[in-house]
Amino acid sequence: MEQRPDWLAEGVDLDKPSAARCYDFYLGGAHNFAVDRELGNKVLEAMPNVKEVALNNRAFLRRAVRYCLDRGIRQFLDIGSGIPTAGNVHEIVQAVDPQARVVYVDNEPVAVAHSRSILEGNDNATIVQADLLDVEGVLESPETQRLLDFSQPVAVMMVALVHFVPESAKPREIIGQYYDKLAPGSYLGFSHVTGEEFPEGVQGLVKLYENSTNPVTLRTRAEVAELVSDFELVDPGVVYVSEWHPDSPEDVGDHPEETIVYGLVGRKV
Ligand SMILES: C[S@@+](CC[C@H](N)C(=O)[O-])C[C@H]1O[C@@H](n2cnc3c(N)ncnc32)[C@H](O)[C@@H]1O
Repeated sequence: MEQRPDWLAEGVDLDKPSAARCYDFYLGGAHNFAVDRELGNKVLEAMPNVKEVALNNRAFLRRAVRYCLDRGIRQFLDIGSGIPTAGNVHEIVQAVDPQARVVYVDNEPVAVAHSRSILEGNDNATIVQADLLDVEGVLESPETQRLLDFSQPVAVMMVALVHFVPESAKPREIIGQYYDKLAPGSYLGFSHVTGEEFPEGVQGLVKLYENSTNPVTLRTRAEVAELVSDFELVDPGVVYVSEWHPDSPEDVGDHPEETIVYGLVGRKV
């Protein structure tokens, strides 16, 4: 067992890999442990382009946030925000408007501890340790209430998150509960892993994540669309993340399906 770093919260299980820390490993971060790297290396064998998958997903997150900023949104609720890495939501948002508000939410203690440390001294951004499924715990938390005004539009980000929610937890209804609390003009930025075009590699990933704290549920394009069907989809609807409002045609590449992640932005009308 490796030594516990000082910043690590008590109670973190170092014997089980977590999705947050594996994702940090794919992105070249330093907040992962031997168990995460072991799983991450096996995932790399099953799917050698997993780093590009993560980078494409991050690029989608940035474009979705900018899209909302361009439409005047100044309040962001980033659920399943992960371990901070390059291009965090508060950096993008506060570069445009330092007064803009960002609330991060994650249920993984390492993601929460590291987010808390980088947000120290930032009065307009915070992290709440809570579970997506605990809608009241997220929305009624004192920190959320302090920073976000739900009578005004908010952009909610659920990026690379809901594939960690099994059908038994009723994700469609959970998303509906968030929708109900949002003011008209609010947005949802959303991405989700699929196995539609690379069933073998992706099934390998699903099998490996069975032993992590975050087993994966794959969904088809139609199933993803159904999950977010309360929202009106912004053009071009549900597409592979690299196809969603690319900065340049080259960014899409010849095989957008290799990103294995669907992305979309929806609006509450
Ligand atoms: C793959 S990372 C994505 C990070 C970031 N959203 C991005 O796209 O770059 C997924 C994150 O969701 C978090 N997560 C998974 N299930 C969750 C849940 N039920 N509630 C809150 N966070 C959750 C994990 O801890 C992890 O940090």
